[in-house]
Amino acid sequence: MPLTIDVDPDASDDYMLDDNGSFVNGSFAINNQWQDLRLEDLQQTTLLGQGASGVVYKALHRPTGKILALKDISVFDAEKRKQIIKELQTLYSSSCPYLVAFYGAFYSDGSISIALEYMEGGSLADVCRLSGSIPEGILSKIFYQVLQGLRYLHKDKHVVHRDLKPSNILMNESGEFKITDFGVSAEVDNTQGECATFVGTCTYMSPERLEGYKYSFASDIWAIGIAAAECALGSFPFVKDNGTPVNSFWELLSHIKTKEPPQLKTSQGFSPELCDFVNGCLKRNPRERVSVQNLLDHPFIKFYENRNVGYSQWVPHIMSLIEKDRVKTSTNSSNQMKIENKLDLLNF
Ligand SMILES: Nc1ncnc2c1ncn2[C@@H]1O[C@H](COP(=O)(O)OP(=O)(O)O)[C@@H](O)[C@H]1O
Ligand SMILES: [Mg+2]
Repeated sequence: MPLTIDVDPDASDDYMLDDNGSFVNGSFAINNQWQDLRLEDLQQTTLLGQGASGVVYKALHRPTGKILALKDISVFDAEKRKQIIKELQTLYSSSCPYLVAFYGAFYSDGSISIALEYMEGGSLADVCRLSGSIPEGILSKIFYQVLQGLRYLHKDKHVVHRDLKPSNILMNESGEFKITDFGVSAEVDNTQGECATFVGTCTYMSPERLEGYKYSFASDIWAIGIAAAECALGSFPFVKDNGTPVNSFWELLSHIKTKEPPQLKTSQGFSPELCDFVNGCLKRNPRERVSVQNLLDHPFIKFYENRNVGYSQWVPHIMSLIEKDRVKTSTNSSNQMKIENKLDLLNF
């Protein structure tokens, strides 16, 4: 039986904390197995990644030997604390196999640590970077899972993710893809179905968000379209006239204002189904975009649903690329550390 906590995002943030800096609701966890999750039982090991909102470490839960991901977020201002409390609230009330599981959260030394399900394969951004363009059958299987997670958020929880992007779509060693980071998500009720604040990563932002207008569920659909196009192409779909990628907020804003949204074309070698799937998400007018349910029912998803696309061979192949990349990255960073240590010695 999942535990629940009553978090009121408008209440004082500190009401959740006791004198020791722990959440009042104790060493809470989302299921019985994790009821006694305590920060001191977690041993932080390697760095998994760093993003705008914080740092993510791999951690060992000593009593059980289970590996978790621990996301540390420095909390300087009250606004950010509120956002995080909202994130916790969403995570707490979520139980969906297509969302990264949440085990607990702690407050210590000016940062909030969130214990999450460890996803061995890293993010779809890494998968895309290492594999180049992803074959359509595999892409269909990946997006089926992502869309199930998004359908749960949109239809069951009435939540707009607001920071959907390949680095917030994670893969485990079994090849399961799950959505994470509802850190900037907002509850949207049926009557007031739009959010008006400006948060999140700019490159996957919809035109209405980039231009500062109200946005809603359709903004997440735009992000799905950009992510799917990126995975199919093996590169970011916005390009300047000279063929180089658009990579700053202002370039993207001017591109969005003056040019048609990116589209996939059959002349690029893609199936009409994939082109239609992506292009239905990338409409400038949010009202013209398809819904998450339309995407789940789309022929691009349906066609592969009961077909063998070699997914079970693709997963170990991509996992081996990811592991090799990790070795390379950690060797590079340890070489970098050796150089820095030498420089320290020289400076001394
Ligand atoms: N639960 C997790 N399991 C494994 N790796 C993770 C997990 N959460 C995040 N990561 C890794 O850490 C990186 C940084 O995450 P985050 O701080 O959320 O920033 P961002 O999402 O902007 O990349 C991610 O890109 C991903 O590679
Ligand atoms: Mg993230």
